[in-house]
Amino acid sequence: MSTDGSLIEELKKLEEEALASVEGVRDEAELEEVRIAFLGRREGRISEILRKLGQVPPEERPPLGAEANRVKSRLEEALDERRSSFARERAPDRFREDLTLPGRERWIGGRHPVTRVVDELIAIFRDLGFSLARGPEAETEWYNFEALNTPLDHPAADEQDTLYLKAGHLLRSHTSPVQVRVMESHRPPIRVLAPGMVYRRDSYDATHTPVFAQLEGLAVDEGITFVDLKATLAEFARRYWGPGTRVRFRPSFFPFTEPSAEVDVKRVFRDAEGREQETDWIEIMGAGMVDPAVLEASGLDAERYTGFAFGMGPGRIGMLKYGVPDLRLFYENDVRFLEQFAGP
Ligand code: PHE
Repeated sequence: MSTDGSLIEELKKLEEEALASVEGVRDEAELEEVRIAFLGRREGRISEILRKLGQVPPEERPPLGAEANRVKSRLEEALDERRSSFARERAPDRFREDLTLPGRERWIGGRHPVTRVVDELIAIFRDLGFSLARGPEAETEWYNFEALNTPLDHPAADEQDTLYLKAGHLLRSHTSPVQVRVMESHRPPIRVLAPGMVYRRDSYDATHTPVFAQLEGLAVDEGITFVDLKATLAEFARRYWGPGTRVRFRPSFFPFTEPSAEVDVKRVFRDAEGREQETDWIEIMGAGMVDPAVLEASGLDAERYTGFAFGMGPGRIGMLKYGVPDLRLFYENDVRFLEQFAGP
């Protein structure tokens, strides 16, 4: 049987006809009928042509076979396309794509609110000339107590009881041991901040947690006085809480500072109506002049140098700042709470 291209012609016509039929169907059942009519293995018209391939002279077979396959896959594509358009129409509205919707944002995490406060505090003190220092959380009794002028049988040591590790080692109960480590390894002038976690045998309530963050500050040089301490902390408070902030120093006691003070702040600000408002006095830190015994224990000449130190709790400062009523919320790791503070 010679074909002189007539089978190819026939295929082209078939293709047009098939595509037109696909266009014309009204539902999936009709679409299936079209598929069987053209591609059905027994009766399908394209299959029929493919079956005739055997009778064609061998040299004409390849172009004819290629053409038949092309038409076949073109038709399969058209069928698929039409089938999915029926499926889309059938889908309930809520499954249809709405290309105008904004993308779904995923929460990729953020800094812990207490870490944010620590970073803010560090930024302010950096402008005041303080750099950063770190010390170990597992400390020795020497650094945590004795070098800080706190004999182990002193009542102040009981107040800061903590978890003991192997003999003579403990989890530090404050960041003050970093003062000693810094003075041992650096010559004055010294101006450092030491942030970190501390551990205490403390109650677990709205304002205490047995593990919490502290931020220690230390300045040592010739001629440093209590005036420098007051000015530095007042300036810090005004930069952090606003220019109207007031600072109060109440006499207190720490074995490692003399004199010592508790520092309170009162925020004074204007509310939305422009009226002046003020908060109560709120205690934010302990502070004082570095005790000469601490300077000596750290290897500095107490006749030549003086210094001041302070220690604050960024968690409490965060409570104030964000209006969080309970310190425990910061440390319970409930993402629903924490993610509210995640931002740039
Ligand atoms: N280390 C003290 C505390 O944890 C705070 C403090 C630091 C007080 C530095 C004075 C100077 O309570």
